[in-house]
Amino acid sequence: MHPAVLARLRCPVCAEPLATAPDTRALRCPRRHSFDVARQGYVNLLTGRAPHVGDTADMVAARADFLAAGHYDVISAALAEAATLVVGPTSDGRRADGEPYPLVVDAGAGTGRHLAAVLAALPDAVGLALDVSKPALRRAARAHPRAAAALADTWQRLPLADASTAVLLNVFAPRNGAEFHRVLDPAGALLVVTPTDAHLAELVDALDLLRVDPAKADRVADSLAGHFTEERGAAHTARLRLSRAEVATLVGMGPSAWHTDPERLAARIAALPEPVAVTAAVRLTVWRPR
Ligand SMILES: C[S@@+](CC[C@H](N)C(=O)[O-])C[C@H]1O[C@@H](n2cnc3c(N)ncnc32)[C@H](O)[C@@H]1O
Ligand SMILES: [Zn+2]
Repeated sequence: MHPAVLARLRCPVCAEPLATAPDTRALRCPRRHSFDVARQGYVNLLTGRAPHVGDTADMVAARADFLAAGHYDVISAALAEAATLVVGPTSDGRRADGEPYPLVVDAGAGTGRHLAAVLAALPDAVGLALDVSKPALRRAARAHPRAAAALADTWQRLPLADASTAVLLNVFAPRNGAEFHRVLDPAGALLVVTPTDAHLAELVDALDLLRVDPAKADRVADSLAGHFTEERGAAHTARLRLSRAEVATLVGMGPSAWHTDPERLAARIAALPEPVAVTAAVRLTVWRPR
C-alpha cells in the first residue's frame, strides 16, 4: 500500500492510526486492533459483519466487462475533469518533502475503474477504493498502481482520518453525508454521479426494468443537506450501441429487482434490434463541505 494512503487510514474500532504489523500482512493500531490484508490485496477494515453485502461476483464481473468495453468512459472522463479542477495543476508525480499527496477516495468504488481514470489524470494523487463487496475489491485492488482498496461500509464510520481526503467520488452508490463531510478536507470536494430519468430509457421501456426514481435528484440533495452545498452540476450523455449480449451484461450489473423473471427478460432481449441504441445519461454534481 502506498505510504500516503496508509498514513490517512484509521482504525475502525478506536480511530488511531494504522501501520503494517511486523512479520505479517496485517495492519494494526497502537491498541492492537488488527486487520487482515487479503491475498488479493485489499484490507478488511470492517468491524463485525457487514449488514450490506454489496454487489455479487456475477454483478461485479458483468460491470467489469461492460466498463472495459468503454461504454461508461463518459463518466470516467467527467470525473477526471472535475477532480482536476478541485486538486489544481499537479506536477509529474514527485512531491517536495513533506508535501502531502492528494488522496482520492471512491466510496462504493466497484471495480475501481473510475478511480483509476481519475488517478491517471492526477499524477500526484493516491487513491483508495472503498466497498462492501469482496468481489469488487479484488478488482479494485489492482485497478491502478497508486490505488489501495479496503472493505468498508459506507453506513458505518469510514476508516479514514478527519479532513484526509481531497476528492471523494460517489458513483451510483450510497452516500453518508456526515461521514463524507468528516473525512473531506475543507478545501476538497465530493463528486456525485447519479442517473437521470433518461438513463437507459430505451431499455427500461423495452425490457420493463425498474424506472429511475424521478425524485432522485432531490434525494441526493436531502442526503447531503446540512453537510454540503452544491457548487455546480452538469448532465453527461452518451449514445451507446449495444449488442444483445451487452444488454444482458448491462442488466446483470444492475439491481437484482431488474431481472425477477429471467425467461421473460431473455425473450425481451432476443426481440431487440441489434445493435440497439441506448442512452446513458447521468448528472455529475460537485459538492463543497460546509
Ligand atoms: C451500482 S455499483 C457502482 C460501482 C462503481 N461506483 C461504478 O460506478 O462502477 C454500487 C456499488 O456500491 C457498493 N455498495 C453497496 N452498498 C454499500 C455500502 N453500504 N458500503 C459500501 N459500498 C456499498 C456495491 O457493492 C457496488 O460495488
Ligand atoms: Zn484500534
